[in-house]
Amino acid sequence: GQTEKASTKEKLVMATSADYPPYEFHDTSGGKDEIVGLDVDIATYIAKEIGVDLEIKDMDFNGLLPSLQANRADFVMAGMTPTEERKKSVAFTDTYYEAKNTIVAKAGSHLTKMEDLAGKNVVVQLGSTQQTTVEEAAKQIKDMKVTPLNKIGDLVQEVITGRAQAAIIEDTVAKGYVVSGNHLEMNPLPDNGENAYAIALPIGSPNAEKFNQAIKKLKESGELDKLTKKWFDK
Ligand code: ARG
Repeated sequence: GQTEKASTKEKLVMATSADYPPYEFHDTSGGKDEIVGLDVDIATYIAKEIGVDLEIKDMDFNGLLPSLQANRADFVMAGMTPTEERKKSVAFTDTYYEAKNTIVAKAGSHLTKMEDLAGKNVVVQLGSTQQTTVEEAAKQIKDMKVTPLNKIGDLVQEVITGRAQAAIIEDTVAKGYVVSGNHLEMNPLPDNGENAYAIALPIGSPNAEKFNQAIKKLKESGELDKLTKKWFDK
């Protein structure tokens, strides 16, 4: 068997989909490749509070919860919304952030509301709440096609090349892609109150209470505000 050194800290594995700046993305500056962002800073804070080391595994968003359920990760942190559907298979901590959906389209295309997407091809992230919301909306809208894709970067690319006319992405993330040179614009959709973020844990996880305590401290100490500023005021 394995011998464990007393000095070796326990390690928690975080599964994420690092296509979501400023929450989690690859920082490749200076020849390195590191996953950084607000979620990573929060996870680092929680790990420190609990007294464990942190390991991050990057995968497609759609694979996150299956990999948690298969014990390939201890928790999922990926700007993930605690929906009733997901709560059937995993547990969620208290929420730590709130976002809104926005339409990303070519500049000047005047796609400002869901109804404007009639006859359009609309891309969403596979397995996301955007997929559920937009597929539901599309039932009432004439000839609106919804295409789910794995990575947020692919969504944006489809809009830039014109293979899709719009992408539905959360505002804080979309902002990072709607940069000059991309010739894109974003138009906010009405707030459906369904975009809170929380951390997913296996049902019955012994870590749940510790995570919530750390999140409480993160909020009350002002550290969350500090980290949010750090990642949003860039
Ligand atoms: N909040 C949405 C959801 O829970 C989108 C999250 C996408 N996150 C990501 N890292 N790509 O489905």
